[in-house]
Amino acid sequence: MPRDIAIDPVTRIEGHAAITIRLRDDGEVDTALFHVTQFRGFEKFVEGRPFHEMPSIMARICGICPVAHLIASAKACDQLLAVRIPETAEHLRRMMNMAQMVQSHALSFFHLSSPDLLLGMDSDPAARNLFGVVKANPQLARDGIRLRQFGQQIIEWLGGKRIHPVWAVPGGVMSPLTAEVRDHILERMPEALDIAQRTLDWHRDTYGRFAEEIESFGNFPSLFMGLVTPSGGLQFYDGKLRIVDQDRRMVIDQVEPPDYMDYIGEAVEPFSYLKSPYYKPLGYPQGMYRVGPLARLNIADHCGTPRADEALEGFRALRQGAVLSSFHYHYARLIEILYGLEKIEERCNDPDNLNEHVRAFAEPNCYEGVGACEAPRGTLFHHYRIDRNGLMTWANLVIATGHNNLAMNRAIEQAARHFIRGPEIPEGMLNRVEAVIRCYDPCLSCSTHALGRMPLRVRLVDAAGKTLDERERS
Ligand code: MG
Ligand code: NI
Repeated sequence: MPRDIAIDPVTRIEGHAAITIRLRDDGEVDTALFHVTQFRGFEKFVEGRPFHEMPSIMARICGICPVAHLIASAKACDQLLAVRIPETAEHLRRMMNMAQMVQSHALSFFHLSSPDLLLGMDSDPAARNLFGVVKANPQLARDGIRLRQFGQQIIEWLGGKRIHPVWAVPGGVMSPLTAEVRDHILERMPEALDIAQRTLDWHRDTYGRFAEEIESFGNFPSLFMGLVTPSGGLQFYDGKLRIVDQDRRMVIDQVEPPDYMDYIGEAVEPFSYLKSPYYKPLGYPQGMYRVGPLARLNIADHCGTPRADEALEGFRALRQGAVLSSFHYHYARLIEILYGLEKIEERCNDPDNLNEHVRAFAEPNCYEGVGACEAPRGTLFHHYRIDRNGLMTWANLVIATGHNNLAMNRAIEQAARHFIRGPEIPEGMLNRVEAVIRCYDPCLSCSTHALGRMPLRVRLVDAAGKTLDERERS
């Protein structure tokens, strides 16, 4: 007989989605599915609009990571113009992209995941939040707030607006970097670097408490994809596609992003509006791959900055070959924060970046353009086609959270099987299922091209599909 089982809602995640955990008659987990339930079609909505409006429109896809869309969109438009943008403009876009990564990773690690990591997966759910962290480790909480503010501040200083900065435009950026802003950034940089290093050291000293989670939180072989520099280094703004396997053997390398459709297929499942991209040559669903911090550090040969490269050595020691446990997205995220800060500092110290020539002007010279960059959560593609009048005829967006859809589903199932056994589901066990998703840090407002933030629901169903319980915190 079906039983009512209390389930706390999935919280501390951005967007609107649900998990359905299906139990067999004996109470063991049969399947666990991650659905995305909201949909708003930006791809259709932009048809007929002038292409030069795209960066400002696309930045509105997401309140969490507008900068990633802004950058990918501006890059796609650069291709429509077929111009080489001024070098300074490129450097400033890179800087803003890094600032976005730092603030987004800080949000993920400190605000969303540090309650689990500091207080424990089984701690009192009423206190397992940022306020609980403030009580138990005030410095960790303060560090998280300061670091996130710093990233947001840099975006605001560069773009003039914290949310949806319409600053990157086709052909470059709207305004140059001033000496005053540069000095502000450099003034606060030592504190930010200290925070990043201190947090990385803390995480390295404490993740050992989570051996069981490391083993079961999406720990499986897969492909890993991302952009790399010509020498195989970590890359966020530009670069070519690389895919490696679980042993870090090269599957594809230095592939031009506009050729992405040759390698990436997008499957559609009836249970979710979020498409399931896969590596075409292996087919669906065998072609599962992961993107984002874990993938980027698995594919890259080096980071290219001193502190991050030193930290990368520790990360490599986790496993020969690629690091497979999704739990280590956290570790990778902290290394990327360090890298991002080092890169921003490097840019600030380059006097060429005060150059005031930051935009190239042209009419459209091409009818098709693909812009790709690494968003905080993974590779982002904006692909546009226009007519002779510069009006959009077609758009395709492949967003970071989508790439991870197959792997997230598999990870949730692995964790649910390991931790959930009917008839009783302790809260801490359910929290682990949520925590798996938090490792991937999906941006659901982004992945459904939907606006706003909504919570995730969890549903427990019996073998016949009857809902045993369903909850959602407002
Ligand atoms: Mg799409
Ligand atoms: Ni987003």
